[in-house]
Amino acid sequence: MAMITTPHINAEENAFGKTVLMPGDPLRSKFIAENFLQDARLVNNVRGIQGYTGTYKGTKISVMASGMGMPTIGIYSYELFNIFGVDNIMRIGSTGSINPDVKVRDIVIGMGACTNSNYGSQFGLAGTFAPIASYPLMKEAIAQSETLGARYHVGNILSSDTFYSDNKTANEGWQKMGVLCIEMEAAALYMNAARAGKNALAILTVSDSLVTGEETTAEERQNSFTQMMEIALNTAVALEK
Ligand code: HPA
Repeated sequence: MAMITTPHINAEENAFGKTVLMPGDPLRSKFIAENFLQDARLVNNVRGIQGYTGTYKGTKISVMASGMGMPTIGIYSYELFNIFGVDNIMRIGSTGSINPDVKVRDIVIGMGACTNSNYGSQFGLAGTFAPIASYPLMKEAIAQSETLGARYHVGNILSSDTFYSDNKTANEGWQKMGVLCIEMEAAALYMNAARAGKNALAILTVSDSLVTGEETTAEERQNSFTQMMEIALNTAVALEK
């Protein structure tokens, strides 16, 4: 079996399924492989980023961490899409709400991803390109959210370069424009998918509210995480039907 070695992934050429789920955290990747996939095996461990491939309801699916922030998800999604033949990447992560109706433990499906990052300038559109989710993935994820009876929102999100911003009023502009929540990866993923002609979606659970200051306990995060996982996995299975 031919191995492909990039600066960031060292795996067999067909190591990954058509769909890769990407949590930020490598330990989450391991947890998902161990608890949701059958016959999961470690296919990449460069920098401990932990990529696994197994099956879910008979469909070959992979899970690999993205790390935090647009540069890291930019690297991994580029290599998965353009070198390892992956067609669909679903980010599964946490987010901070900036909308009073978006409560902790809710799920947010990122229809569009605004950003304060310069990542998009490489495409020659001076950062004005609107990064959006792939409609087939989003449509299926909404259907799966309905089936599971999840409390979910679909809308615009903000992919930010900063978790700790020195600008304490920065969120107001995004709030005025109806942006639901803040995370740190989706916009780069959506742009890479657009450039590669592939599919991407961010499914997020709200871990904290920047409106009310409310935070989730570890146990609550685990429960809403499980719901997000089921949405993502069932979406992956439905895509291959
Ligand atoms: N900002 C950015 N990313 C996040 C947050 C936040 O408040 N909460 C969870 N991920």
